[in-house]
Amino acid sequence: MKLTNENQAKLTAAMSAVDYIEDGMTVGLGSGSTSAWMVEYLAKRISKENLSIKGVPTSFATKKLAETRGISLTTLDQVDALDLTIDGTDECDKNYNLIKGGGAALLHEKIVAKASKKVIIIADVSKYVNTLGNFPLPVEVIEFGWRFSKTQIELKLLQLGYCNFKIELRMNDKSALKTDEGNLILDLKLFEIKNPAKLTQELNSIPGVVENGLFVDVCNILILGNVNGDVEVCDVLNKKITKKRIDIFKFHEASTR
Ligand code: 5RP
Repeated sequence: MKLTNENQAKLTAAMSAVDYIEDGMTVGLGSGSTSAWMVEYLAKRISKENLSIKGVPTSFATKKLAETRGISLTTLDQVDALDLTIDGTDECDKNYNLIKGGGAALLHEKIVAKASKKVIIIADVSKYVNTLGNFPLPVEVIEFGWRFSKTQIELKLLQLGYCNFKIELRMNDKSALKTDEGNLILDLKLFEIKNPAKLTQELNSIPGVVENGLFVDVCNILILGNVNGDVEVCDVLNKKITKKRIDIFKFHEASTR
């Protein structure tokens, strides 16, 4: 991966999060480009410090990358709980609610996050927003009767007072995109989500909906990366924000196996 400005911001957030990983931990490995940097740096730390880490990937893509980089993997069914999960986000609001699923991995991501003692969300600063909803909200539905599920979602949105919205079936070239579980994704263009907690509950009550991309009360630590190497670490529970400088050269210095 090339270190563009955007990638540099993602890398600083990723490196800062990997510093929380300790020897012996079982770690949920998120999906998307920011998480890919996290996997890359984790692999380097494991190799350099001879760490014993087990990873639980949240998508086939992350599994493949982690395997290529020599990270030992396990599954959720083989462990009682995960010590930590590090994952990216598409949006994060000031209450640390998230929209995830831009990479269609929201279902596994939510299960892995919920099974974790601590969740660190990493992103470049552009993902931090006042109100969620500019990024389309992904909803994973089973293929059977998906048009019915779509109509039910439309009715539910109207009931909840959303009037200016659009729902699109996510495509992969000319056919519908399939998630790792073989389901479909409906992207809800809502523009503004006023009550994420209510919406997530209501969407998940619709027949055919497997999960939606709202992650409410999931994030414990948010790390926002900047191009210049500065990160902001927001500790949600303790309501504490600290600024740190990350030395990107540490990434280049460390070598993988
Ligand atoms: C995948 C996700 C990703 O975490 C989210 O899309 C952010 O991706 P990126 O780091 O590439 O911006 O939720 O389902």
